[in-house]
Amino acid sequence: MSALKPRPGILEIEPYKPGESLVDGVARVIKLSSNESPLGPSPRAIKALEAAAKEQHLYPDGTCEAIRTALGRRHGLDPARIVCGAGSDELISLLARAYAGPGDEVLYSEYGFLMYPISAMGVGARPVAAPEKGLKADVDSLLAKLTKRTRILFLANPNNPTGSYLAKDEVARLVRALPLDVLLVIDAAYAEYVRRNDYSSGAELVDAHDNVVMMRTFSKIYGLAGQRIGWAYCPPAVADALNRLRNPFNVTASAQAAALAALEDIQHVDRARASNDAVLPWVTAELERLGLEVAPSVGNFVLVRFPEGAKSADAANDFLAKRGIIPRKMGAYKLPRSLRITIGTEADMRFVVATLAEFMGARQ
Ligand SMILES: Cc1ncc(COP(=O)(O)O)c(C=O)c1O
Repeated sequence: MSALKPRPGILEIEPYKPGESLVDGVARVIKLSSNESPLGPSPRAIKALEAAAKEQHLYPDGTCEAIRTALGRRHGLDPARIVCGAGSDELISLLARAYAGPGDEVLYSEYGFLMYPISAMGVGARPVAAPEKGLKADVDSLLAKLTKRTRILFLANPNNPTGSYLAKDEVARLVRALPLDVLLVIDAAYAEYVRRNDYSSGAELVDAHDNVVMMRTFSKIYGLAGQRIGWAYCPPAVADALNRLRNPFNVTASAQAAALAALEDIQHVDRARASNDAVLPWVTAELERLGLEVAPSVGNFVLVRFPEGAKSADAANDFLAKRGIIPRKMGAYKLPRSLRITIGTEADMRFVVATLAEFMGARQ
């Protein structure tokens, strides 16, 4: 036994398990376990990465100036209030470290992204889950869980793994009711996929309030999950805190170069969105036809609930895996009867639907 002891709470963390990517004995794997883009990165980003390879002896720009300027121009935001991170995962940890600690509470919605409770426990704070209604965050339920100890409220909008979202009026109502010393972090990792008039990523709320942050990522629609780059749009004081806390070179030079090129390739993003627009409703309808319950999703994935018994989610997972299809098991989210399936290419999703039809015993 080691005499060393991590700080209280650390050993209670259930390590985050990334989506699987390999299946024994299967040559071609269709990885649908991490909500990655089936189109891959923009060709322009690939070129930028090749060019960046020659400069790897140099430290990156620690301020991420070029990418912050480009993001500011694209989204109409003040670059000085943007902080980049090694994926939005790093920003979640930094926000937890900056604003919560032992004795504090970090609030999130029942089926919210797992990194929220993990980052809370990492700083010795207590994660508090507010019950959802119909697999959707509920503003009143979140407000009912506020205490004097609440320091941060993490809200994924849209949420992973449920695919549900809160309309902008609801998020605005949440902000209005929130005490000024509670930080609302709106995690809009899937914002680019949403096709709803009543949705907003929340940038305007950051402009109007000192206690709201919005986070985005290059890991999803931009197809750069391997590079690890995300960003937060913050009130000035929050940007200042994060800039003091983060490592000086927290975003690699290649990530910055790839993100800059990806941001310029609007057509590639449009293609990824159009593909999702076409395939998501088709997959949803086909799986429902098989008698499965599919939570309505505005993201690039669906949460599918299976019956109990022989046609369970675990059995479906094994059946799919044997054929090289890897969905995400949902036990860690306390949704053991469901699988989350990323929306892949149309061809891959036809194979997924046909395989699940076979699993469910439906004739094709
Ligand atoms: C809601 C949500 N936030 C953040 C992340 C982390 O993304 P990144 O790759 O930017 O760290 C994910 C990744 O799945 C996510 O689903």
